[in-house]
Amino acid sequence: MSTQSDPHISLRPATSDDLKQILSIEVQSYPEPWKIDHFESELERPYTRALVLTDDETDTIVVGYIIYWIQAEGVSLLNLAVDPKWRGFGFGMKLMQAMIKEAVNEDISRIVLEVRESNQTAITLYESIGFKVTHKRKSFYSNGETALVMEIKTSEASSTVQ
Ligand SMILES: CC(C)(COP(=O)(O)OP(=O)(O)OC[C@H]1O[C@@H](n2cnc3c(N)ncnc32)[C@H](O)[C@@H]1OP(=O)(O)O)[C@@H](O)C(=O)NCCC(=O)NCCS
Repeated sequence: MSTQSDPHISLRPATSDDLKQILSIEVQSYPEPWKIDHFESELERPYTRALVLTDDETDTIVVGYIIYWIQAEGVSLLNLAVDPKWRGFGFGMKLMQAMIKEAVNEDISRIVLEVRESNQTAITLYESIGFKVTHKRKSFYSNGETALVMEIKTSEASSTVQ
């Protein structure tokens, strides 16, 4: 499979058939990974969007995924991960752009997310889009780590997807 400069990677809604690969990426990506039933229940919620990036050739190699809620009061990012083998090729940004595009199209005014204070890679990605820290949630994660709550007005993020 080629990389970002190659167009043979596409975005589509995730299905239960993707969960095995999603879980494999999930456990390599987070200290407290979601379990399969968490993914399954998100796939069933009417306001959840779950997207995967897969190879066009077989449509079975999952490179990364994004899961977010689309609600009138805001879009909430729940989960974003790229296979460690494919990090640094722009796929994380591509997944973020898909979420932002939907927020623009649905005319939802803001996008919010939480990120571990220690997750500098993700924080750099979010800051490069224009997300700002609004507040902190102390001991948010079960290991006691603080969450940064970050937010952007959709109108300010829209330049990222033009
Ligand atoms: C965060 C994550 C999704 C980024 O995916 P990615 O495909 O590697 O990211 P991209 O290649 O699209 O990079 C986009 C931007 O992120 C930032 N970034 C990516 N990797 C970085 C690194 N190792 N160090 C610092 N910044 C980094 C840069 O700003 C980069 O833009 P640039 O390439 O123009 O410099 C990926 O590292 C991951 O899956 N991490 C584990 C799960 C996770 O932490 N998810 C976020 C939870 S809130």
